[in-house]
Amino acid sequence: MGIQFKDVGYQYKGIKVNYDALSGINLNIAESDEFIAIIGHTGSGKSTLVQHMNALLLPTQGQVNVLGQILPPHKKEKINHLRQKVGLVFQFPEYQLFEETIIKDIMFGPKNFKSTDAEALEKAKKAATIVGISPELYEQSPFRISGGQMRRVAVAGILAMEPKILVLDEPTRGLDPKGRKDLMKIFKDLHEIEHKSIVLISHDMDIVSEYAKRVIVMDEGHIIFDGKKEDLFEHPDFESFHLELPTSLKILKHLEKEIGLPYQPKYDFPSLLSYLKEANHE
Ligand SMILES: Nc1ncnc2c1ncn2[C@@H]1O[C@H](COP(=O)(O)OP(=O)(O)O)[C@@H](O)[C@H]1O
Ligand SMILES: [Mg+2]
Repeated sequence: MGIQFKDVGYQYKGIKVNYDALSGINLNIAESDEFIAIIGHTGSGKSTLVQHMNALLLPTQGQVNVLGQILPPHKKEKINHLRQKVGLVFQFPEYQLFEETIIKDIMFGPKNFKSTDAEALEKAKKAATIVGISPELYEQSPFRISGGQMRRVAVAGILAMEPKILVLDEPTRGLDPKGRKDLMKIFKDLHEIEHKSIVLISHDMDIVSEYAKRVIVMDEGHIIFDGKKEDLFEHPDFESFHLELPTSLKILKHLEKEIGLPYQPKYDFPSLLSYLKEANHE
């Protein structure tokens, strides 16, 4: 079933003027095994697009189908359950922490979706384990832990609802390299072990290159590319997308030009390093 967009447009209604944030969006996301990065300049419509995936926004044109349900034209209570099935982690999700203790904060989602206290606690503990929040922290205030930990508590709050699809709006923004890596490892494992579909907005081309399988490029409310990561970075018109190349590909292109090392795309640092070692021994 997954998520489908058919000729979708979204218009923000202003006092004087309306603004078309999305137009002509056609998109198919499978229910499992996807790892999609959504990239594009600030204001290109990425956040607007993903907020349709759990019915936070409803299309003003066209049709969105989320896990077999067509979104209605107006907000009604019937779409609430989609917020549980498609978990959306906002930008800076730690701003939405509010409970007195970490474990209560993580339990909030499942309780909201009719889990009993005992069930919610069970789900919260499981989610805390996934994100590496240890039991000693459960009763602490979510405001007394590090930024990276706060971010992970917020992610656990979404995972505790046991969503089928996980949508992340710039989840690593503002984190240090270790925090970024720890968080990406969580999403990578959910994808590889549980086969969850992950949709990730990111400005970080190294993260896109290392983790995503498919990339969607947005520009002024349109999708200008949707395909395999390999096909994006090797696209003959790559420059027309005005995107940066990931560091590993930049290095490889540079080495080809400067020392004639044959260009072979490598999408993360470990495979770049083994290729360079191999080349060095030849
Ligand atoms: N609540 C809003 N009201 C009016 N315009 C908005 C609102 N949110 C976003 N926009 C506009 O819609 C466009 C797309 O925004 P957004 O989806 O946030 O882009 P991105 O996530 O790619 O930066 C931008 O021009 C932005 O200014
Ligand atoms: Mg955004």
